[in-house]
Amino acid sequence: MNIYDHLKQDHDTQRDLCEQIKHTRGDSEKRNELWRALRIELEAHASAEEQAFYANLMQAPEGTDETRHAVEEHQKMTEMIEVLDNLDMDAEIWMKKFEKLAHRVIHHVDEEEAEFFPKAKKIFSIDEALAMGEAFEDRKPAEVRKQKAA
Ligand SMILES: [Fe+2]
Ligand SMILES: [Fe+2]
Repeated sequence: MNIYDHLKQDHDTQRDLCEQIKHTRGDSEKRNELWRALRIELEAHASAEEQAFYANLMQAPEGTDETRHAVEEHQKMTEMIEVLDNLDMDAEIWMKKFEKLAHRVIHHVDEEEAEFFPKAKKIFSIDEALAMGEAFEDRKPAEVRKQKAA
């Protein structure tokens, strides 16, 4: 599977988890479980994506701006995740902050798919996209294990 399909698959998981969390309440088992799943997915995805995709995109002069922008957004999302992790899930502010994160996540994955992937498709060959897909397949499970252990 090429890199774009791998990333899109993860993005759909993220969209789905964000939507599900919006329908949870308070410090419930469901919210805890879904939040942990989303947090692990977001962090592992961003790391594997930077390694397998953006590190290569950065090497093309036409890809530098997109790479910088995406990495900055990953960083911002990590900060927002940390804030949420330190907030009481029962507090009303938790959902307010979560909605801001969810909004940012959706904007980010939409932008990657609608703007960055088409640009990358002009830079990379089909074989390169497959090789990046393989690199992502290797890296993602390792990043998930790392996040689970954290
Ligand atoms: Fe990303
Ligand atoms: Fe992504």
